[in-house]
Amino acid sequence: MYFDPRPKERREDLYDREEELRRFVESKSPLVVVTGLRRTGKSSLILVGVKSLGMPYIYIDARAFEEKPYISYADLLKALEEAVNKIRGKGLREALRGLEGVEVYGVSIKFRWGGEGRAKLPEILSALSSWAEDRGEEAIVVIDEAQELIKLRGYNVLPALAYAYDNLRGVRIVLSGSKAGLLARFLRTEDPSSPLYGRYADRIELGPFDKAKAVGFLREGFRQYGVEFDKGEDVYEELGGIPGWLAAFGNAYLRTRDLGKALGDVVGAAVGLIRKEFENFLIGREVAKRRYEAVMRAAKRCATWSEVKRALEAQEGRSINDAEVAKLIRNLADWAFLEKRGEAYCPPDPLIARAF
Ligand SMILES: Nc1ncnc2c1ncn2[C@@H]1O[C@H](COP(=O)(O)OP(=O)(O)O)[C@@H](O)[C@H]1O
Ligand SMILES: [Mg+2]
Repeated sequence: MYFDPRPKERREDLYDREEELRRFVESKSPLVVVTGLRRTGKSSLILVGVKSLGMPYIYIDARAFEEKPYISYADLLKALEEAVNKIRGKGLREALRGLEGVEVYGVSIKFRWGGEGRAKLPEILSALSSWAEDRGEEAIVVIDEAQELIKLRGYNVLPALAYAYDNLRGVRIVLSGSKAGLLARFLRTEDPSSPLYGRYADRIELGPFDKAKAVGFLREGFRQYGVEFDKGEDVYEELGGIPGWLAAFGNAYLRTRDLGKALGDVVGAAVGLIRKEFENFLIGREVAKRRYEAVMRAAKRCATWSEVKRALEAQEGRSINDAEVAKLIRNLADWAFLEKRGEAYCPPDPLIARAF
């Protein structure tokens, strides 16, 4: 059912995305990076993809770290431990037993995360790889919303990822990010001092649906409930083409059977969530809060660089230097609150504009 609010896991529940799914399934690269705005369907694509590959996988949801100002190695290992314990493949416990910091009790695995003998990520990945290879398979390690790991303190995961990329034939890494700029900042594949420098990744970008696909998604989605719906274009004008918001609209409309009310519900919920994400963005940036707000208000119907600068100067009644303006815009763009269109900066989605 297209309007099911959870990430999809079965092909028949995923509307369109044939090309993206084919690229995911056919990728030969040890590293696949899936980007797209929040709710464009990254988790869905990845889950449908790994299930159709039929390979064992571990799935780390880094969204759990979203509201934390920083993450520790312990947080990461606990998330990994939970994910590894969900694999039911035979022999994995034996493969991990004996590694430093790894304890196997019956069917459950525990990673020690503190002190001298803590479990080591490269060793865990290596054991996972050998285990999968012995079975003639590949273990897929998914880190969803991986840009959150930029907040890891006291541990760098990039060397472990680069090690897996270079040496582990039985492991494939899949990273997703709804803040593509932030993910790029974290991975630094273009930076010669980064462990991942020069490693080729298959990149799959999920855009919002265009008008025709949005209309088709709604029509087909409603048909699954035996409802005829022909107001898809109006919905697209109001909400844009992000599948998650369209699905939320579908549910709201099925409940209320009132177009205006259903649209209002979805806009209200979306604006609330976007404001919450903006609050998370501002953690550690409180001193510049008024400036970031001013940039978003100025750019909500698109603005050039100089228009943004003028709006900031008008708010403060003094001149603001170019480097500061550039920094504000770059941070907002890296967090996907703005995108560049020609000469202008615009919210990438109409609901983001509504939130400001
Ligand atoms: N192609 C699609 N077909 C059907 N539903 C989709 C599709 N893409 C996304 N959705 C729905 O939209 C919502 C957000 O999808 P999700 O995969 O969680 O997005 P993301 O991981 O990018 O934030 C979920 O309700 C999901 O079921
Ligand atoms: Mg997701």
